[in-house]
Amino acid sequence: MRELIDILREQRHLDSSGYKALLECDDEGVVTYLHEQAREVGDEVFGKGIFVRGLVELTNVCRNDCLYCGIRKSNTAVERYVLTTEQVLQSCQQGYGLGFRTFVLQGGELPRDKAPWLIELVAAIRHYYPDCAITLSLGEWPREVYAALRKAGADRYLLRHESHNAEHYARLHPAEMSLDNRLQCLAWLKELGYQVGTGIMVGSPWQSLNHIVEDIEFIEGFKPEMIGIGPFVPQHDTPLGKCATGSADLTCRLYSIFRLMFPSALIPSTTALNTIAADGRTMGIMAGANVVMPNLSPTAVRANYTLYDGKAISNAEAAEGIAQLNKQLATIGYHINWGRGDFNQRIINS
Ligand code: 5AD
Repeated sequence: MRELIDILREQRHLDSSGYKALLECDDEGVVTYLHEQAREVGDEVFGKGIFVRGLVELTNVCRNDCLYCGIRKSNTAVERYVLTTEQVLQSCQQGYGLGFRTFVLQGGELPRDKAPWLIELVAAIRHYYPDCAITLSLGEWPREVYAALRKAGADRYLLRHESHNAEHYARLHPAEMSLDNRLQCLAWLKELGYQVGTGIMVGSPWQSLNHIVEDIEFIEGFKPEMIGIGPFVPQHDTPLGKCATGSADLTCRLYSIFRLMFPSALIPSTTALNTIAADGRTMGIMAGANVVMPNLSPTAVRANYTLYDGKAISNAEAAEGIAQLNKQLATIGYHINWGRGDFNQRIINS
């Protein structure tokens, strides 16, 4: 098994049986070795700096109805909000003052007629923060909208493919959605010059290890700049609310596998991982993740952005917790890197 990991490190590729063996392996020593190798590779590229991205949860309004998601449109228990332009700019201002140089606007899929407002909003952030990266995570839109957002100043786009197996994808999503359209959106984003992130939930209902291998192979071919992986966490008001929570161990193995496949990828240690494991954030980093995304959203709306149960809304996950985050990173020998951290920017010992 260790040779397999050495080959992955050297060749950045395994065949499907190799990936499956790493996901299945129940030898703790081997898993530790996998994490160590990944961490070494990450350190070679990024040193001991961990990038921070300020997350602004723009809206919990969503036209979509994904079966796993707490803000799906048929969940009537959610109090819906859309931040105003002023609120978003205030969040950015607060974040900028703290040192953030990337803002991530994440939210549900707004009605299509909100596109002009989104474009203006991105232009406003670009105007006030010319030195910052703007990342969007706002779901599926027509190509023209992605193009206009890019032109307005957006640099990066996160759109998890969720599952590359069409049948599995269809079980997690309403009939109006399709894997083909999701992949089309990802292709457009790439063509338009975004740095693109994709990924999956680990342990989503009906997901098998073979599905995960399919996801790894899709990501291998797509070559995203960012890879977003977090455990599935049930949300009690959704049809999948009684399903089992995804595994932290498997999530961390995937961070390691992707770090070895893509040494300079941006891989967040996700909030979902930190939700299911008390030390999830540092576990993720020790497995090869190199980004964390503290929450810059106005405190009043945080409780309403509930994709899943138990999401930390306390200061520990918030921007006010920066000193705490630095302390936490220091315990594992890391520190915050305040740079924009564009893909391929080689930052050694920062
Ligand atoms: N558990 C974990 N992650 C979730 N997401 C949505 N719902 C859940 C859930 N119940 C993830 C999806 C989406 C991202 C914004 O949040 O993968 O792409």
